[in-house]
Amino acid sequence: MAPPFRVALSGKGGTGKTTTAALLIDALRRAGETPVLAVDADPNANLHEALGMVVTETLGSMREEAFTRSIPAGMSRHAYVRLRFRQVLVEGEGVDLVAMGRPEGTGCYCFSNDLLAECLAGLQSVYPFVVIDAEAGMEHIARGTIGVPDVLLIVSDPGARGMRTATRIRDIALSLGLPKERMFLVVNRVRAGAADVGGEPVPLIVEVPADPAVEEADLAARPIVSIPDDSPARLAIEALAARIVEMARGR
Ligand SMILES: Nc1ncnc2c1ncn2[C@@H]1O[C@H](COP(=O)(O)OP(=O)(O)OP(=O)(O)O)[C@@H](O)[C@H]1O
Ligand SMILES: [Mg+2]
Repeated sequence: MAPPFRVALSGKGGTGKTTTAALLIDALRRAGETPVLAVDADPNANLHEALGMVVTETLGSMREEAFTRSIPAGMSRHAYVRLRFRQVLVEGEGVDLVAMGRPEGTGCYCFSNDLLAECLAGLQSVYPFVVIDAEAGMEHIARGTIGVPDVLLIVSDPGARGMRTATRIRDIALSLGLPKERMFLVVNRVRAGAADVGGEPVPLIVEVPADPAVEEADLAARPIVSIPDDSPARLAIEALAARIVEMARGR
């Protein structure tokens, strides 16, 4: 089987990374590109809520436990981490989810980061697509726990300030060794009639409209993926998913 196509989302706080990630995951699922592996790489994990899934444990807390607590007799720490890793994975309908938790606590985590990277790499082979909700600093990508994404979507508000932040995020990604050709801009919460500000740091891949259905779902604490089939944000992100499937095929 081909290696998974990895899509990571980054962007300034509150720009819509989690919303976009959840709708992208749902669009890939509906297009039959299953199972999708959802990776919540934000220490303040909430992708599961957007997807309507329940997470009880993160890889970070599992790792903490594996390295501070005695493990079953006769079992290597390595084998224990691999075993527990499978338990941290939440399985849903067409979507499995793993939450990374905090990137590290105190002490040296190089060894355990390598272990996590190995577990994740082994796991990913069964998924055609992996979608990673990463925070602005892209800590987990920097630490190598998640492999290098095939595509980085930089999510931004419309407007000049949003573009400046997107430029900074592009530069962080470049410093992590991500080629510029793999980065695309998602402008979110676009209002009808708003002028294009220009100055995009990377090519624009989609404009996602400001969508009252997203706000309503959020206010009512309903999963984002429960918004109606014809919601403007969903339709825009379905077009994005189609582009991503095309890129994966042409890889
Ligand atoms: N297209 C949209 N239309 C309307 N509201 C939106 C849209 N996208 C996001 N929102 C709202 O904006 C807020 C922030 O969205 P979201 O949580 O997805 O951003 P984030 O970048 O993941 O934030 P954080 O940095 O806190 O992780 C939420 O209240 C969400 O409902
Ligand atoms: Mg988020």
